[in-house]
Amino acid sequence: MDEFRIQGGTRLAGRIRIDGSKNASLPLTAAALLAGEPVTLRNVPDLSDISNLAHLMGELGCRVDRGEGTMTIEEVDPSCTHARYEIVSTMRASICVLGPLLAKRKQARVAMPGGCAFGARPVDLHLRGLRALGAQIELSGGDIIAKADRLKGATIFLGGPFGSTVLGTANVMSAATLAEGRTIIESAACEPEIADVARLLNAMGAKISGAGSPRITIDGVEELGGADHIVIPDRIVAATYAVAAAITNGDVTLEYFPHDCLLAPIDLLQNVGVNVNRLDMSEEPTRCTVQVTSERRLKPGVISTQPYPGFPTDLQAQMMALLCLADGNSIITEKIFPERFMHVAELTRMGAQLIRQGPTVMVQGVRRLFGAPVMASDLRASACLVLAGMVAEGETIVSRVYHLDRGYARMEEVLNSLGANIQRFNPERKHEPEPPVITTVPAAKAKPSTVATK
Ligand code: UD1
Repeated sequence: MDEFRIQGGTRLAGRIRIDGSKNASLPLTAAALLAGEPVTLRNVPDLSDISNLAHLMGELGCRVDRGEGTMTIEEVDPSCTHARYEIVSTMRASICVLGPLLAKRKQARVAMPGGCAFGARPVDLHLRGLRALGAQIELSGGDIIAKADRLKGATIFLGGPFGSTVLGTANVMSAATLAEGRTIIESAACEPEIADVARLLNAMGAKISGAGSPRITIDGVEELGGADHIVIPDRIVAATYAVAAAITNGDVTLEYFPHDCLLAPIDLLQNVGVNVNRLDMSEEPTRCTVQVTSERRLKPGVISTQPYPGFPTDLQAQMMALLCLADGNSIITEKIFPERFMHVAELTRMGAQLIRQGPTVMVQGVRRLFGAPVMASDLRASACLVLAGMVAEGETIVSRVYHLDRGYARMEEVLNSLGANIQRFNPERKHEPEPPVITTVPAAKAKPSTVATK
């Protein structure tokens, strides 16, 4: 298993471009199951989660052609409707095939996803929504088995104890596109990824309005066709690199930065002393260019994770790394996944002063962190440890970086292109690490692989 060896104390400077969104690409890919014609996605990030889903789509009878940043999906054999546990267990987001399979092929068998490093991950809201559309659903052998001749539109409340559900909304919205009549989803997830899925579905011929708000209306149609769609930039990756600039007192320019999808994290960054300046006000606000710089010392902050447009849970760990070095005490409360604190013990090994009580952590700012061997336990916790390692004194070894590869394409190359000193190393190969290969082309000179859409 690969690990990162990070020499701390470097200051990041330069320019990078943000890739397409993983969390949009996954339900967008699954939505292609609804089409009778090829669907092409552009600006798809090169990540292991995407490859896993592409593999699953192949098992579900689709031909998947991948080019640089593009993916074309075409149904060739609709007879297979089983998403096996072997694949679902590698990536719980595979659940997003459930709604499209059920709506288009009238049946679906999808392994029930298990929990994950940060707690139970129920899918009861997905099932509640699909049942409301008329699906018969049972559990057998660890699989969700869903059937329906034709789904029927309904008014569905999709709120749960922690707010709405992102992939649950994607599943129910996608399924309702082929249902008979009108569906209204109340308490729908408002995340930009849901609005992006609705944009693709509408381009395929669906009739969806209100996506991106808590009330989505879907008027069912008989069939959906092909489409060509550009995936939105990844707001979590964008904000992670903004924090990387801030934590190293750097000066980094980020292109394709989804500024208006990150207003809560930007507000927090600015409150603690990080400058996030839009360089071009005329650009489209979800794909603009920003410069991130920071003061030598940061002020403490208060964070409470919430559904969009609140502060995202997917940035809680990275922001904790930053606040470890603030002057004073910060408070972080996790309201989406109250157990999502695997990084706390690892940051403590690096000298952070953290006191956790239930879903809240008090972060007592320290003057410095120290390099240490640490273990990443999930995707965003891994990113947090890399950020901390870049500013810690000495060497930090972050193991199990396969978690990072799920959500950050060649993260070490991107950060090294900005001046970090990170080597990927596989201890099982028992040889000295290769010097880092920097392949990231400076964004100013890079040929854009995507075209911004309105
Ligand atoms: C998505 C994101 C993930 C992010 C999360 C919350 C993808 C691929 N993943 O995950 O990165 O951290 O949103 O922003 O897009 N819940 C229920 N019942 C359900 C479903 C969810 O109670 O049926 C609860 C969850 O336990 C959690 C909350 O609702 O407390 C939000 O989860 P949800 O939005 O469903 O997360 P995902 O869509 O799986």
